[in-house]
Amino acid sequence: MEQNSRKIKLVTGGCGFVGRHLVDNLLEEGSEVWVLDNLFTGKHPDKWLAGFSKKEENNFSIYEQGGKKLVFIYQDAIDFFRNIIAGKSAAVLPNFDEAYHLAAVVGGRAVLIENDPLMVATNHIIDSLFFQWAVKAKPKAVLYVSTSVAYPFSMQDRGKHVAMREEYLSTKGHGQIGLPESIYGWIKLAGEYLATVAHEKYGLSVVCVRPFSGYGEDQELDYPIPSIAARAARRENPLIVWGSGDQGRDFIHIDDFVSALRIAIQKVHDASAVNIGMGGLLTFKEIAKMMAEIEGYSPEIKGLSDKPEGSFAVYNDPTFLKSLGWEPKNTVRQGFERVLKSVKERIKNES
Ligand SMILES: NC(=O)c1ccc[n+]([C@@H]2O[C@H](COP(=O)([O-])OP(=O)(O)OC[C@H]3O[C@@H](n4cnc5c(N)ncnc54)[C@H](O)[C@@H]3O)[C@@H](O)[C@H]2O)c1
Repeated sequence: MEQNSRKIKLVTGGCGFVGRHLVDNLLEEGSEVWVLDNLFTGKHPDKWLAGFSKKEENNFSIYEQGGKKLVFIYQDAIDFFRNIIAGKSAAVLPNFDEAYHLAAVVGGRAVLIENDPLMVATNHIIDSLFFQWAVKAKPKAVLYVSTSVAYPFSMQDRGKHVAMREEYLSTKGHGQIGLPESIYGWIKLAGEYLATVAHEKYGLSVVCVRPFSGYGEDQELDYPIPSIAARAARRENPLIVWGSGDQGRDFIHIDDFVSALRIAIQKVHDASAVNIGMGGLLTFKEIAKMMAEIEGYSPEIKGLSDKPEGSFAVYNDPTFLKSLGWEPKNTVRQGFERVLKSVKERIKNES
């Protein structure tokens, strides 16, 4: 296994959907990975580190297999960073060469953004403590995961939408911001501002990434792509999609999402933002049509217009990410084929 000169990585929120894929990538390249997660939505590593041995040391769980090593800190990021900053923690942390900050309350529109928006604001506490820790601990490079939802809502609305370019939102200099669509976007925008301050006032090397819609085989079935795949797998007719079905997103397979995270942290150090997305707009009706085509049937496709759809069209111009050397390995169709195949296996195993 090739040893990377940047050796020990921290991934907050490493037990979540994106985190697990990032951790796999880091372990595969030979890095030691420390994961901090309170399992709010994440999965316990016992469930996804198959074949690893496990031992407990200093309140951390250490998983090993061959040359791979993962240290799991099962704790709330708020308590963890607050105690370290206050000098009240006995934890001895290594010098991290990369720290990926993913931990966040991500509950989905129906669960949190609509019903308990202030709960989402917890992310601001997590982010501020993370950056207070980072400017002291000084990992060599930090990645802050923002979101496409931080962009101005007015640029993603019906009849007025454009492909998002990084300069449409900036927390540097005189800045450029607009009202995001939800509290989730606002708090991430504030997080980008913290990243800018951490870089400009404390010299921290940091990149902000703005992912569009990540999807993958192991996502829960209530996420859009697996959910449409499950309905297509059951050959539902009509095939119903969320919202009006005319709203669109820029979907990116998780493998290409992770390769973009790795390139961004290695290439950008001045708190600038990098979009992560394929660069295409697909409406939910188009997604359903493609999924049904892959499944080999032709249902009537209908929207459920009484459900909220959020911003109308959220998609990006990936010129900057591509200029850093990123190229996706999966077309949208290939990614959907992978999801449909895995959802069919899941459904078969459950029945
Ligand atoms: N998935 C996407 O397409 C997408 C798009 C834009 C931004 N993001 C961002 O990427 C990051 C990961 O998203 P995801 O899709 O993997 O979501 P997820 O919910 O699967 O992962 C979030 C992880 O953070 C953990 N967490 C939450 N609160 C915590 C706390 N207080 N202390 C420690 N851990 C905590 C959760 O348990 C979970 O493991 C988030 O910051 C999210 O906002 C994701």
